[in-house]
Amino acid sequence: MEQDVKRLEEELQADLQKANTAEDIEALRVKYLGRKAVVNQLFAKVPTLSGEEKGKWGRGLNLLKGTITAAIEEKIKGFKGKEEKIDLTYPSKEFDKGSKHILSVVSQDICSVFEKLGFSIVEGTEIEDEWHNFSALNIPLDHPSRDAFDTFYLDLAQKNTRQGKFLLRSHTSPSQARVMSEMKPPLAVVSPGRVYRPDQVDASHSFMFHQVEGFAIDKDINFAHLKGVLLNFVRLFFAPDTNLRFRPHFFPFTEPSAEVDISCFICKGKKEKCSLCKGKGWIEILGCGMIHPKVLANCNIDPKKYKGFAFGMGVERPAMLKYGINDIRLFYENDVKFLEQF
Ligand code: DAH
Repeated sequence: MEQDVKRLEEELQADLQKANTAEDIEALRVKYLGRKAVVNQLFAKVPTLSGEEKGKWGRGLNLLKGTITAAIEEKIKGFKGKEEKIDLTYPSKEFDKGSKHILSVVSQDICSVFEKLGFSIVEGTEIEDEWHNFSALNIPLDHPSRDAFDTFYLDLAQKNTRQGKFLLRSHTSPSQARVMSEMKPPLAVVSPGRVYRPDQVDASHSFMFHQVEGFAIDKDINFAHLKGVLLNFVRLFFAPDTNLRFRPHFFPFTEPSAEVDISCFICKGKKEKCSLCKGKGWIEILGCGMIHPKVLANCNIDPKKYKGFAFGMGVERPAMLKYGINDIRLFYENDVKFLEQF
């Protein structure tokens, strides 16, 4: 018995030294004081001892149990003391902070320039119906320009016959039709968002990209207002000395229609080998025009009383121009090394 106790005491000292964590100490408590623990095993031997020995070791083991309990408690106290010494002023580990995607930044920058010019922001819906995506915008069901716009159709229950099938919108222009149908002029609205096209993906095309649509409607709106708004926009967004060029074009929803180029803000039209404009001096950025009277009428606005201008631009292209990005796919690959640069 004497030897057993001695061995136990030695083992306890060694174990106490090794115990460094709360779990270690709990394991010690279980090992020495638990129900099936070593001390209880020794207690079980007492009844087998002779009369005198019984009394001696009965008391001895009780004392031992007290000593072990005190030693473990002492250890716990020391450990708690250490825990409380944690330096709360120590700087924390740096954690990864997210940030806005560059396309969100550029889209918001575009919109905030128009906000400064008095436009409100109204987001449209990504799932559109044929009425808003095509027919209301004067794109008839059999118009050839629908080929480039026929995107991804969805198998949803139709609400009524005029709305037609549902699809992922191919441009942000349907936002015009929605706002015009729901709000009364005067209106000046920009509408940003994702659009979809049946396009093969390459360095400058994607089946999904972003646009910002804009339009204004009032009694005396004319083409000069459109020019003024766009000139202000490009000068605030690109560079203060940017110029504009309007080229006649066709869009079913505007008449007359134009495509707009900005003067090259890198070479100012002076470099034959300019990497941006390729020596042309001009870069195409958007489509625009005076809203077709049929579109106004389709959206319950009297074309005899009201006129309007509209424009639509991509977000990727101005972002690529402004930040010198040469491949549209970089925007969508989510490579942190690319995204972190902005
Ligand atoms: N919706 C046209 C497109 O995606 C862009 C556009 C052109 C919008 C002329 C307009 C506009 O509002 O007037 O190609």
